[in-house]
Amino acid sequence: MTQHLLDLDDLSPAQLTRILDLADDPSRPPHLAGQTVGLYFEKPSLRTRQSCETAVAQLGGHPVTFRSDEIGGHGRESMTDITRVLSGYHAILGARVFDHAVLEEMVACSQIPVVNLLSDRAHPCQSLADLLTMRQEWGSLTGATVAWIGDFNNVARSLALGAAMTGMHVRIASPVGFGPTPGDIDRLILAGADGPPFMSNRPSEAAAGADAVHTDVWSSMGQEDESAARQKAFEGFQVDASVMAVAAEKAVFMHCLPAHRGEEVAAAVVDGPQSRVIVQAHNRLHAFRGLLRFLLEGAD
Ligand code: CP
Ligand code: NVA
Repeated sequence: MTQHLLDLDDLSPAQLTRILDLADDPSRPPHLAGQTVGLYFEKPSLRTRQSCETAVAQLGGHPVTFRSDEIGGHGRESMTDITRVLSGYHAILGARVFDHAVLEEMVACSQIPVVNLLSDRAHPCQSLADLLTMRQEWGSLTGATVAWIGDFNNVARSLALGAAMTGMHVRIASPVGFGPTPGDIDRLILAGADGPPFMSNRPSEAAAGADAVHTDVWSSMGQEDESAARQKAFEGFQVDASVMAVAAEKAVFMHCLPAHRGEEVAAAVVDGPQSRVIVQAHNRLHAFRGLLRFLLEGAD
């Protein structure tokens, strides 16, 4: 069966650990020699595009990146036809889409692995890098506590799944209406969480004692129209020195980037000594290389 990755719970915990182990391995077997990886983008990207293209090249392959406007969006032909055509060209397909349903449509007809490069619902490649960064920091993830402050969005959902699958504890602070849904919580428990996460409407309660404090923008790509309302709703949810002060003494601050200094995070935190945001960004490369190696293991 073709292994797709729309979110981390498409993997078993053992497969997730295997990807992290491969990501930590500096060797670069030429699994992709003479092959291509198709990378489709409906939204802007710095880290995802560059880390994916670089990882493909490191394994001897060639990335073929294309934006939706270059192929006429979904109006010129259906995503099903696009995917069936691309399945004959590439070894793997990655896609960054507005609507997660587009990825599901791709999976339904693809003969090659489809990897989610960010949708409105999930960002599993980011979570792989986040887990890798925390594992490098502490040596092990099991038993550590991660706090999420702000919108329980695509990045949060995938991170919480990864935490549940690796034996971490999750604490969440979101404004009313922006936290996990009952469906999200059921999914975390199915993925391995030992119960619902701690949830609060106060950042300092969720951050208390945490080993890592994560946040992300208040308005994600595609939510620009909601920006003013979200600015208001997220007042008081900035990760600042007072939030970091209640976390564990050696706590790290994490953010997928891009960051908005003075909104979801204070400049002194994102640019301060506890910040690991650049390590995280660099780990996107190693995580994607590990994922490619995992997907290609046994294929050559
Ligand atoms: N963190 C992340 O996915 O960054 P880009 O949107 O720049 O790819
Ligand atoms: N939540 C953000 C993440 C960007 C990497 C977005 O979807 O825009």
